[in-house]
Amino acid sequence: MAVSWSNIQTEVEKAVLKYLDAKDEDRDAKSFWKDVMTCYGVEARSVGAFEERVKVYGRSGVAKIDYFAPRKFLIEHKSRGKDLDDAYRQALDYFDALSDDIKPQYIIVSDFARIRVYDLLAKGEEKMTEFALEDFPQRIRSLAFFAEEEVREYKPEEHIDVRAVRVIGKLHDALKVSNYKPEHLPRLLTRLVFCFFADDIGIFEKNAMRRYLEEHTKSDGGDIGNKLSNIFDVLDTPDGTAGSENVRQAGMDDTLKSLPWVNGGMFAGHIDVVFGTKEIRDMLLKCMEFDWAYVSPAIFGSMFQSVMNEKERHDLGAHYTSETNILKVINGLFLEELKAELEVAATNKERLNALWDKIAAITLLDPACGCGNFLVVAYRELRAIENEIIRRIHGREDKRSAAHAASHGRLDLGDVKLETISRLSVERMYGIEIDSFPAEIAKLSLWLIDHKMNMELGKIFGKPFKKLPLTEAPHIVQGNALRLDWESVVPKNKLTHILGNPPFLGHHLQSHEQKEELENTLHNLPSVGVMDYVSAWYVKAAEYIQGTQIRCAFVSTNSISQGEQVGILWGDLLFPLGMKIQFAHRTFRWSNEATGKAAVYCVIIGFGLESKKRPVLYEYADIRGDAREVFAKNINPYLVDAADVIVRNRRVPMCDVPAMQYGSKPTDGGNLILSDEEKGDLLRKEPAAEKYVRRFLGADDFLNSEKRWCIWLVDAKPDELRRLPEIMRHVELVRVFRSISKAAATRDYPHPTLFRQITQPDKDFILVPRHSSENRRYIPFGLFSQDNIVADSCMAVGGATLYHFGVLESEMHMSWMRAVCGRLESRYRYSKDIVYNNFPWPETPTEAQKKAVADAAQEVLDVRKKYPTATLADLYDPNTMPTDLLKAHKTLDKAVDVCYGIKGFKGEPERLEFLFEQYKELTITKVV
Ligand SMILES: C[S@@+](CC[C@H](N)C(=O)[O-])C[C@H]1O[C@@H](n2cnc3c(N)ncnc32)[C@H](O)[C@@H]1O
Repeated sequence: MAVSWSNIQTEVEKAVLKYLDAKDEDRDAKSFWKDVMTCYGVEARSVGAFEERVKVYGRSGVAKIDYFAPRKFLIEHKSRGKDLDDAYRQALDYFDALSDDIKPQYIIVSDFARIRVYDLLAKGEEKMTEFALEDFPQRIRSLAFFAEEEVREYKPEEHIDVRAVRVIGKLHDALKVSNYKPEHLPRLLTRLVFCFFADDIGIFEKNAMRRYLEEHTKSDGGDIGNKLSNIFDVLDTPDGTAGSENVRQAGMDDTLKSLPWVNGGMFAGHIDVVFGTKEIRDMLLKCMEFDWAYVSPAIFGSMFQSVMNEKERHDLGAHYTSETNILKVINGLFLEELKAELEVAATNKERLNALWDKIAAITLLDPACGCGNFLVVAYRELRAIENEIIRRIHGREDKRSAAHAASHGRLDLGDVKLETISRLSVERMYGIEIDSFPAEIAKLSLWLIDHKMNMELGKIFGKPFKKLPLTEAPHIVQGNALRLDWESVVPKNKLTHILGNPPFLGHHLQSHEQKEELENTLHNLPSVGVMDYVSAWYVKAAEYIQGTQIRCAFVSTNSISQGEQVGILWGDLLFPLGMKIQFAHRTFRWSNEATGKAAVYCVIIGFGLESKKRPVLYEYADIRGDAREVFAKNINPYLVDAADVIVRNRRVPMCDVPAMQYGSKPTDGGNLILSDEEKGDLLRKEPAAEKYVRRFLGADDFLNSEKRWCIWLVDAKPDELRRLPEIMRHVELVRVFRSISKAAATRDYPHPTLFRQITQPDKDFILVPRHSSENRRYIPFGLFSQDNIVADSCMAVGGATLYHFGVLESEMHMSWMRAVCGRLESRYRYSKDIVYNNFPWPETPTEAQKKAVADAAQEVLDVRKKYPTATLADLYDPNTMPTDLLKAHKTLDKAVDVCYGIKGFKGEPERLEFLFEQYKELTITKVV
């Protein structure tokens, strides 16, 4: 690069002043970018071209890219105030239209006021950076690629965080192979990582440690351990700063002498010396080749954690909670409110000071903090607001001169000292973590983010600022959050918020100890066995915050807001403790697509004792997409804008409708069930067995048009049976299978001819699969005659009519099901006791209305028959559902709505509000 960074900065400052008031794309955009590129020592016409023509798919004519540098970047510029998201979408259209060999790595969009840079090879939220024009001088490195000579190919490569952690993984392995004590490894790696950062982010003189190791250690690595020990000792020895006595030995090497006293416990205490090898030395130096200034402490922590786990290691990118998701928690809890207050405060010093008081009081606890990423992001955001307050309080009213002053580091500190100006401290960050290694990383990451934010603060006044030795430490307690008294970690009168992502574990996955902890925390309620482990954090938090205004928010599996768990968690525990939902994100997908790791379906619930007037509900039309913000009247535990009702298990239907039953359970080792082929074989050998062979209807058989059969001997007479040796062979196999069962009741069951549990309806019935894909808008149900045998993967409503079928197949019932049913992973788990027995049926439909429903239901069945080769899975896949079938369903939906006296709803939330209201009324008026 021909020009130095300081030159670029000076030139950019001038350019910023020149374009501070620019508005019009046509008039100024071209000259603006020409000038900016000149600042980087680049001539616009030598790298690319303005108004590059491109043919965009699906659009007539030819479009023009504002500026395009092949294989490097493209710029889409708009007039001031225009939507940058639109500009980005437009740029992406151009990107798509460019051939692969010239596609750029970066897209820049701007409206003069803001500049946004997208790195298309970066992952997650690291992808986009945005800054105001005034901040451009401080953000010149965001456009560093302007000055890069080398042209990169558009081929995805790993993000710096992942690459850095991979090398640490190798260092970890090299240490392990050298028999370094495993119990000292976490501590050693944490110290080393601190040093890697310190070398690059201004805690040490730039690359001091790297130079020291390169120059003072033998290339065979034999003395690397001793040198590291020296470094750690020096970092732990007072050097005369901050009022300390200088107790460092004379005669120390200059580089060692330049290392600061770090304190804070980071380098205190003995850990085993590394007896170095060449490999260890090489790995160490390799780690230091990265510019750690670009590694994010928030993301890095979780990945660093996975270094210790070799299984997770190969999949590093998957092991971090993205900032987008962390911010969902923090935004709802306090950040959006604070940002809004900052906006209102503008430059009003009184208001700014009041806001400052408020943020200075914020004290956070993450009771399952892992590597501290929630605390790190929260602290960073709070410090960013504080820095802005400071900038405004010490800045000038006039925008132009303020920008100029800021970029020259001329804001006036007055009598205030940089060391004491910030009122926020990592001391207000509390965490509980069961594992020691992540707890160490949490402390490290908080220190690092504190340092980064101090540097940002320094920049406001044009003075470098580092706070060393470390005197303030975050309070990360290693322990079991469910066994610890949280008061012993932080007294509740000090705390303002609780947040985090406590572990989700369904009851099958919980260890014996975890089950015990859950039971104890949930006070041994009878059905505690169905609860997810995460629910214990809700109860602990709710008990802890009694008598306070502390607000809480946790990311959790969505299972806690569905099915049976809701009644136990909210009905029995949280409502009696006075908890209200203050904001919530409905189900969204939490995954890292790139790694193919199983996705988790999450919700975020913000709660506390205070009821919010207009709690915000974030809804996801597409669970992989962005949320839509809705101001609710009340958010109930199903995360629906409706009354706080609890839908509990109910043995019989609340309304006057036929009962639903589980299907029959064979417990036969497969000996009573036949494939099509086996049925053919059997009947060829024994034609008289035909009357005992029935169609067997499991959920898969029904949805995927598979045919299975079963030997059904309910009415078989003994003498007849004895004349059917093939059938009796099957019966004998059933007997043997049951005789060796672990369950006494199965062993003792005296009828090998029969299914172990028989619940077959004696009338025609509606078939309901118990599990069904969440992608289906309508779960297909079926109508069958009683001679078809219902398997236990389905349920049946015997004696049901077409009207019943119509109502169950309607949007009204489907919405209800989606809101209250449980899930198996993400699939719907239909339960008769929660979904069916509690469903509020139309109260007094007229005969004509019922007939309209029955007719519309018949039409649905008739349309299905028009596609004899398609399975129900094909017909009800939203991507392949035939239009006539969808139309028939829509007609049915309307007919059912009419039975409720409703003409339609604006959307599912309104429909659910109605249904919960109906449910509430019915539970009051009917016998519960
Ligand atoms: C889902 S992780 C979240 C951690 C971190 N916030 C993140 O996103 O990576 C849950 C954390 O809780 C910790 N944990 C599990 N059981 C715990 C317990 N009983 N007490 C305290 N921490 C626990 C785990 O070790 C893990 O670090």
